Amino acid sequence: MRLSLRFVLPLMLVLAGIAYAIIPLVDQLTLRWFVHDLDVRSSLIANTIQEPLQEQLVAGNRAKSREFFNRITQGERLYAVGYCASATGKALASRFLPAEIHCADLDRWEGPGDHVFPSPRGPLHVAVKPMSSEAAPAGRLVLVHDMSFVTRRSEETKRYVFYFFMGLAGVVSLVTVIIAQLSWRGWMAGMHALLRGEGLLRQPGPGAQPKLPGFNPIARDLQRLISELGAETRARDESQITWTPESLRAILQGELRGEDVIVVSNREPYIHQRKGEQVEVQQPASGLVTALEPIMRACSGTWIAHGSGSADREVVDRHDHVAVPPDKPAYQIRRIWLTAEEEAGYYYGFSNEGLWPLCHIAHVRPTFRSGDWAQYVAVNRKFTQAVVSEAKTKSPIILVQDYHFALLPQMIREQLPDATIITFWHIPWPNPESFAICPWRDEVLAGMLGSSILGFHTQFHCNNFVDTVDRFLEARVDRESFNVSFGGKLTAVRRYPISIAWPPEAEMLQKSVPDCRSDIRRMNDLPAEHKLGVGVDRLDYTKGILERFRAIERLLELNPEWIGRFTFVQIAAPTRSGIEEYEHHEAQVQALAAHINGRFGHQGPPPIALKVEHHEPREVYEYFRAADLCFVSSLHDGMNLVAKEFVAARDDECGVLILSQFTGAARELPEALIVNPYDADQCTAALHLALSMPAAEQRDRMRLMRGLVAEFNVFRWAGRMLLDAAAMRRRSRLIDKTSRTEA
Ligand code: F6P
Repeated sequence: MRLSLRFVLPLMLVLAGIAYAIIPLVDQLTLRWFVHDLDVRSSLIANTIQEPLQEQLVAGNRAKSREFFNRITQGERLYAVGYCASATGKALASRFLPAEIHCADLDRWEGPGDHVFPSPRGPLHVAVKPMSSEAAPAGRLVLVHDMSFVTRRSEETKRYVFYFFMGLAGVVSLVTVIIAQLSWRGWMAGMHALLRGEGLLRQPGPGAQPKLPGFNPIARDLQRLISELGAETRARDESQITWTPESLRAILQGELRGEDVIVVSNREPYIHQRKGEQVEVQQPASGLVTALEPIMRACSGTWIAHGSGSADREVVDRHDHVAVPPDKPAYQIRRIWLTAEEEAGYYYGFSNEGLWPLCHIAHVRPTFRSGDWAQYVAVNRKFTQAVVSEAKTKSPIILVQDYHFALLPQMIREQLPDATIITFWHIPWPNPESFAICPWRDEVLAGMLGSSILGFHTQFHCNNFVDTVDRFLEARVDRESFNVSFGGKLTAVRRYPISIAWPPEAEMLQKSVPDCRSDIRRMNDLPAEHKLGVGVDRLDYTKGILERFRAIERLLELNPEWIGRFTFVQIAAPTRSGIEEYEHHEAQVQALAAHINGRFGHQGPPPIALKVEHHEPREVYEYFRAADLCFVSSLHDGMNLVAKEFVAARDDECGVLILSQFTGAARELPEALIVNPYDADQCTAALHLALSMPAAEQRDRMRLMRGLVAEFNVFRWAGRMLLDAAAMRRRSRLIDKTSRTEA
């Protein structure tokens, strides 16, 4: 509106100026017309009175002629009439013939020229008309008209002209304002869409007409500019930022104005367990925890998670908070308590019997129960309330983790519309056909699209997600920008390959590799030069532990020289033991290990050492440093951080990584021996190759992999998400600002 006024006022002034300039012209023009009219009228009157006047003159009756003149000047306009017989005599005239008009100087009034005579009474029009020559007597008639009506008319005309221009100014202004408002709205809508990253050039449906045809070329330019800027910023990020905890803190302080960070996950980073009289603190086997914990140490804030430890309630304050890490507190955990019923439905049921097998496609049928779904919804709501109560500002940064909380982003968005919600899906996303079997697929998708940013490990998973949304929701999917617009909100779907902290904590590398080698061998009753392989996983059917063992069995069949000289230590963290499929799987793993050990364990140490128990990260690192090879054979895995941890642990640049092609990590670590875990012979060949690989080749491969993990560490993972979030917040601030200007 203000903008419109800024335009209208000058317009009105300009039109007033035009009116001011035009009025004198109009005045002159009308005066000329009136003078011409009076000339014509004078000729007419002269012709009309000529005959009777001559008769009276012939009769010599001058008094009658004067009376005749007086009579005809009684009308409104003819002011005076006079007759000059010659240039020397006195005029025979009606009452008001001005004294300044003499018969001697009538020439000045005759013919074309200025006939206006300014008398004290007002302007008069003087016309001199000769009597016709055949007439007797001849002479000249003087006709004087009152021109005061011209002044009156001129005033009126000026007034009308003025009103006309003012009216015109009003109409033009009104039309201008309306057009300006409409165009401004269109422009603003276009700008908003553009700034939100929506493709203006792409229309919602097939055959739909562009809404802003004139805007498209500008939109294209702006869009190109924005993406060039984005690319430039990214290039700068990659080349200039060394990703450390400090760089994350700098982003939070600088780009995100010191906003609070709230992480939400099911699994908590520290679990307090009662062991008799003691309370022990455990760090769970979880890729999510491995990645997020260093981030929270760097950023501080609050981590909301399920309090699942037997002593968890004993150590929290009255707000259910506990400061961690226990030895050097840097952030706090807010624990959420779940009933057995909630845990059964939400965690074991919908999350791990439904979504987990659904997303992994590891040949275990997903199970969906409406009771589980109800608990899943209820627990998501419970966590939402916790997020809202922990938020210290209206626009906190909330990092929602994993498939346990698909509904959380939308639920949070309803209560904290200005929050920046970054959701990270740690597991794969299947193709639309596979995902379609979920009875609540639309609700899950809609819930996730409450996020500002939705991250997956690989582009393949992003593609699958976007395809799924496109197939099942009434959403607008821009495949160029990978933005999804749903319910008036925009979600950026992005690939952020997760990683681990680099460098690893000094404590993890404290014990030298030779010491680790000898200690681990001694602990496992293995000879000093015994070849050692290691696997570290939760005891989960997606990890391909059975396939791994079968490959080891095949190795010993095909290459018996390794019998008694090679042992594979499988660290298997117990997990989800309330689920039948997991119990069954553990039994299968135990049985296969026993079977292989039964077949090949007679000529020395058993080929498989299965350790189904929790190991702290420090113990795991010791195994990594002691091993000759690490075998990761997941059937499907979002990333798999064990692979990266093995690489990080090997500062001696030795050891060989065998890595399933179905992990996200395989895309980043091609120097590993990449295998198909379903292909036992290929895995066997890889095992053999790893066991016989020369140290120089091990070093070459390990060096390259370490370079990658160092560069693409978890601070970069979080930093890039936070930078993208900061850019989004800047854009939406800009949109708000322009909207305010518009109003
Ligand atoms: O890495 C995938 C993941 O599902 C994590 O998200 C999770 O914390 C971890 O595996 C362990 O699973 P759980 O928390 O069920 O023990």
